[in-house]
Amino acid sequence: VAIGFSFSVEEPVRYDAEQEGLDQKVVIRFSHVVAENTPKGLAVAKFAQLVREKTDGMVEIRVYPNATLFDDENEFNALQSGKVEMIAPATSRLSSRYPAWMIMDLPYAFENEREVSKAMDGRLGQLLFEAINDENVKGLALWDNGFKQMTAGCPLVSVNDFRGLHFRIMPSPVLHAQFKTLGASPESYSFNDLYRQLEGGSVQGQENTLSNIYSKRLYQVQRYMTVSNHGYLGYIVLINKTTWDTLSGTQQKAIESAMTETTAWIRQYAKQMNDRALAEMKEKNSIHIHMQTNEEKEAWKKQLNPVYYQFKDVIGEPVITEWKKLIA
Ligand code: LMR
Repeated sequence: VAIGFSFSVEEPVRYDAEQEGLDQKVVIRFSHVVAENTPKGLAVAKFAQLVREKTDGMVEIRVYPNATLFDDENEFNALQSGKVEMIAPATSRLSSRYPAWMIMDLPYAFENEREVSKAMDGRLGQLLFEAINDENVKGLALWDNGFKQMTAGCPLVSVNDFRGLHFRIMPSPVLHAQFKTLGASPESYSFNDLYRQLEGGSVQGQENTLSNIYSKRLYQVQRYMTVSNHGYLGYIVLINKTTWDTLSGTQQKAIESAMTETTAWIRQYAKQMNDRALAEMKEKNSIHIHMQTNEEKEAWKKQLNPVYYQFKDVIGEPVITEWKKLIA
């Protein structure tokens, strides 16, 4: 007699969460490239906390800082193909895909953080978010870091000081043109390689915000910094569209509300963080810090003016018009 085994397979308990009015728990991976103690690092942490509170833990934002999951050169493709659900790249990094955003990279395009906020809350911001037209990508907000400063192995005071120096930039046509106009040779490299390259001397200079220069200890491998506030650095917060569409209406509302709160919070806080980073670097006294004078600023502006003419057509008339209204 053949002895057979008989299995009794228990049917799993199933219920339809939608029908029951319950949300399924969702994990959203948020990858970024900077340190945790920076405007972006803190904004992501704040956003994660707010989402947890607003969804009673049913949506978890799992944070991967310092390029531990993806670096700046491959995070966008990872987002689009669903290998990560959220990222917040610098606007500069996306400006070739969405040329309207080149406006944010133009040297001295904005005087201060208030002007940027006004731009983003008005028609200009609307136009910029409409330009994010890639498949499977949804733009949620612009988070501030702040204004960029120049660092190098030698002083950068006059416009002639840039001649022949090799500068690291983010991959942005405007930033490329900016350094070309100053007679430097710009090249794009990953942010997380920057310290090593400056240390090795293959790259002589770079531009970044005070919080990035401080948190990545770039002041240890650069001898001079000019506080020039010549360009803006902010982040476009993006979510994978398929992920977004699978969220329930309640979850989407919670994320939107957490995003609005975080955006307002980081606007207040980013400037303080950059100011604190400057104070810390002054204290450490390992980099010479030069505060740009008004006269020097006018000379840099004059030298960099052709960049504006080079890009105004590609940026497009509607964005240029709105920007001119703002700065008028
Ligand atoms: C850089 O690549 O220089 C920075 O923009 C990195 C960042 O995301 O702040």
